[in-house]
Amino acid sequence: MKSRFAVVLAILVCLVPLIRGSGYSSARAVAAHSVETSAAPHVGYVGDVACRSCHADEFASYHKTAHHLTSMAPGHDSILGNFTPGDNILKTANPNLYFRMDMQHTDEQHGEGKQDSFLQTAVAGTPSHTNSRSERIAFVIGSGEKGQTYLYWSEDQLFQLPVSYWTKLGWVNSPGYRDGFADFDRPIIPRCLECHATHFDALPPPVNRYSTVGFSLGIQCEKCHGPGRAHVEQQASKPSLASRSTILNPAHFSRDRQMDLCAWCHAGHGQPLRPSFSYLPGQPLDEYLQLPPPDPHAPIDVHGNQVDLLKQSRCFRSSNMTCLTCHDVHKTQHDAGEFSQKCLSCHKPGSATFARANHPVTNNCIDCHMPKQETNLIVFDWKGAKMRPRMTDHWIKVYPAANATAVNR
Ligand code: HEC
Ligand code: HEC
Ligand code: HEC
Ligand code: HEC
Ligand code: HEC
Ligand code: HEC
Ligand code: HEC
Repeated sequence: MKSRFAVVLAILVCLVPLIRGSGYSSARAVAAHSVETSAAPHVGYVGDVACRSCHADEFASYHKTAHHLTSMAPGHDSILGNFTPGDNILKTANPNLYFRMDMQHTDEQHGEGKQDSFLQTAVAGTPSHTNSRSERIAFVIGSGEKGQTYLYWSEDQLFQLPVSYWTKLGWVNSPGYRDGFADFDRPIIPRCLECHATHFDALPPPVNRYSTVGFSLGIQCEKCHGPGRAHVEQQASKPSLASRSTILNPAHFSRDRQMDLCAWCHAGHGQPLRPSFSYLPGQPLDEYLQLPPPDPHAPIDVHGNQVDLLKQSRCFRSSNMTCLTCHDVHKTQHDAGEFSQKCLSCHKPGSATFARANHPVTNNCIDCHMPKQETNLIVFDWKGAKMRPRMTDHWIKVYPAANATAVNR
């Protein structure tokens, strides 16, 4: 899932004494690739706070979700990694390279008062002769449910930083980065931010150029509901009128358009056909994004493509199931028992769609029929090992291996 356009220009720091200087070369290399040169219009959007007064419940519960937290400004709460001296070092496979994470208290006033800075520094060389490169974290990407990665600005271009944070492990080499290299050159393409933020004003090439002020972080209400200004104005002035014509409600979409909304970000990277950030929920997604056609022979990875996996399931094919059958995106949901109630709403015990008599009666259908599996798409090096997070498999079926573990527990 990580930027597949990224040209990795890592340089072995023990051979070349300098950590790579500027990111411009690789950004130019990817610029030629893309249709994402013009900014999509972003008018009529008012931001989440405008919804709060009337939709207080959705607002409060939604703001704890991974969607909302998936991109954030750097801060003591948003960055999960540890800056305490001693715990702020990531050693690498290269004895002559380590990374240090620092927090800088700034006393200058930046309009909004004191602002701390968070820095990543690569230190290369031997104790007698080191050189280093520091960059300031500009954005945090990832709620930390599994982990987070960090971006920095080089003028008006965005790049990924070489050190990420993985929940339960701490600081790690960013996914897909080679251990022992200091790579500051991975450009952040619009598609990455389209999935992880509400909006960025993309500027003409290179492909990772953005307005340094024209962005809104987190996946906000209007990402799924469309621009809200007309609805807010109408509800504030003429609340008696029905709201249907002023704001999108995916509950009223066809099944295909409901699947499209989630497929926008949960069906893989795809190839943009129109500029990123131009898709509006309710439209046919295939006019905006070319998703790889399902290949019956290719193993579908459990990471980032819940849509294709679900579509393989007999449950999906033999019913009108969508992602919304099980997920309420306005709140966090991790309770297997609650999900299993969704299964039981179709698979009523004793009915024809329930299993044979000797089938276990349980309130956890998930561990056996949607087990967590390792993903091959997010892989990172950690202390010499390849780490792969475990993801819920959305192909609902009988998994002999998972059943054995569940039964033996
Ligand atoms: C001034 C109060 C007010 C504000 C502000 C407001 N809403 Fe609403 N909204 C309502 C009311 C009242 C309804 C129910 C109206 C109805 O049932 O026809 C509603 C309905 C909705 C619906 C369902 C529409 C449908 O057709 O079923 C959605 C979605 C929605 N609001 C989203 C939002 C979002 C997103 C925002 C912020 C951008 C927002 N609202 C701001 C009052 C408000
Ligand atoms: C604009 C992109 C986008 C859209 C649209 C979107 N998602 Fe997501 N979704 C994400 C990203 C990014 C994450 C990972 C967030 C993180 O942990 O940083 C995520 C995470 C999730 C999670 C995991 C939440 C958790 O607590 O671990 C669920 C469930 C989910 N999405 C369901 C859906 C469903 C259902 C839809 C369609 C109604 C949908 N998403 C639409 C981008 C999107
Ligand atoms: C990831 C996509 C997504 C985001 C973000 C999102 N919603 Fe929704 N919303 C949906 C979907 C899908 C539905 C329809 C299905 C449902 O009821 O769960 C919906 C339905 C609604 C409704 C109508 C509920 C009803 O009973 O008809 C309201 C009101 C609403 N959302 C408000 C909000 C507010 C306010 C926010 C931000 C705090 C928000 N939504 C964020 C996807 C989203
Ligand atoms: C097609 C949409 C899409 C693109 C493009 C994308 N991501 Fe993601 N990302 C997701 C989804 C969805 C998840 C949630 C895990 C899953 O379902 O695979 C996720 C998970 C993550 C996580 C872990 C979050 C957590 O705590 O669980 C990080 C970090 C992350 N992405 C960073 C990035 C970066 C950096 C880029 C661009 C270089 C990127 N992603 C591109 C959709 C996307
Ligand atoms: C919207 C209704 C619906 C929901 C919700 C649902 N299923 Fe199904 N499921 C079906 C239908 C219909 C079939 C096909 C039955 C048939 O063909 O006889 C099916 C088939 C299955 C099968 C057989 C799969 C195969 O490949 O042979 C399993 C196992 C299953 N479901 C488990 C579950 C579990 C576990 C859940 C909850 C995580 C779930 N289902 C949720 C409707 C549903
Ligand atoms: C301990 C593991 C385990 C748990 C827990 C479990 N199942 Fe199953 N399930 C199986 C196995 C193994 C089969 C295949 C053998 C059989 O039919 O008994 C199966 C078969 C099924 C089938 C029929 C598939 C077919 O084609 O005949 C359905 C439907 C199903 N399970 C639904 C559920 C639901 C709903 C739950 C939760 C209430 C659940 N299962 C919990 C292991 C499990
Ligand atoms: C039959 C019920 C069901 C349906 C339908 C369903 N999911 Fe899930 N989903 C689950 C369960 C169960 C989990 C695991 C939740 C947990 O343990 O935190 C999950 C977890 C997730 C996660 C978190 C990733 C992870 O590895 O835990 C994402 C993202 C997600 N679902 C997206 C989707 C999308 C997108 C769709 C539609 C294509 C969808 N889901 C349809 C039941 C469902």
